Amino acid sequence: MNQIINESKSFIQEQINTKQNPLLLSYNKISKVYAFTNENIYGYMSKLDFANKGNALSVMASGDHPFNLALYGINNIDTFDINALTEYYALGIKRSAILAFDYLNYIAFMNKLLDKFLSLNELNDLINQITPYMETKHRIYWKSLIDYYHILQKESNISTNLFHLFLLDPNKIDGYMVNTYLKSEKNYNKLRNIIGKTNINFEQCDFNNITNTFNNQYDFIILSNILDYLYINLGSGWKYDKLKHLEDSLTPLLKENGIIALDYIYNYFNALECEYKKNIINFSDITHNDLTTEKIITFQNVFVNKIIHNSEAAILIKHK
Ligand SMILES: C[S@@+](CC[C@H](N)C(=O)[O-])C[C@H]1O[C@@H](n2cnc3c(N)ncnc32)[C@H](O)[C@@H]1O
Repeated sequence: MNQIINESKSFIQEQINTKQNPLLLSYNKISKVYAFTNENIYGYMSKLDFANKGNALSVMASGDHPFNLALYGINNIDTFDINALTEYYALGIKRSAILAFDYLNYIAFMNKLLDKFLSLNELNDLINQITPYMETKHRIYWKSLIDYYHILQKESNISTNLFHLFLLDPNKIDGYMVNTYLKSEKNYNKLRNIIGKTNINFEQCDFNNITNTFNNQYDFIILSNILDYLYINLGSGWKYDKLKHLEDSLTPLLKENGIIALDYIYNYFNALECEYKKNIINFSDITHNDLTTEKIITFQNVFVNKIIHNSEAAILIKHK
């Protein structure tokens, strides 16, 4: 616990000193967390069959993947992320806020929390409102981080909102269109009623270690677009045999009829040009013709809360 708090403090200090570029192509144990998903999760989850399904293994990221899975009735969710801070934001802040507030107040809370000009007093006030809903571990973490932020403020009068140092894309209050749980008050209330009873566990873990870290069998494995970045160190051009190998290595983690959402594909189809994205997974050489047993599900292309007209996004799926 002390270690993650100290590492987070150093990270915050580093962000203040270097004003790091938020556009990142590599992910680390301590890095900025996505405020909300940048995928149309509603687009693909609404096309999957969740009937009689009970568990999933998912990337944590902003928390939106597990929260949507919970809404669709998955009540045991193991999550992982290479970035240890995702747990503290997703389960510490977002889950506590869902438990604390109704739909409109949740949106107001998140808007306020991410407000560029949030004052220290306002930050304290917001965190105090959700603290009773936090697990002890998350409560200790956020108290330590906010106390530290107070000290930094006193020393050098930092004008940046703590969450702008902690999060990627914090200015955009996204998610209403792409998260099933935020699409309507009814959906939100449903999630709010079940989120407290849903087990969401977290392991800080690199995707490459996933089979050593988890030994359960799941109905769903949700990988977001991790594969876009996984082999980035090899340079571009990795081939289908690598994907096949990866699928085979994950199969023991799947129940019979289980599904792996292998990769989220932004801008999969351009309707104006009637053209499919050439490389299905970024930085790979994998084209449509290479695919064998995988399937593609297409849906409306929505990015940062805007519909991208004349185009479709997709998800690459593997069934057991
Ligand atoms: C790939 S990113 C992109 C954002 C994503 N499209 C979304 O909607 O949230 C999602 C998450 O994957 C995590 N991630 C990236 N590479 C990883 C790896 N090799 N192992 C584990 N997690 C990884 C990042 O830390 C981040 O939280």
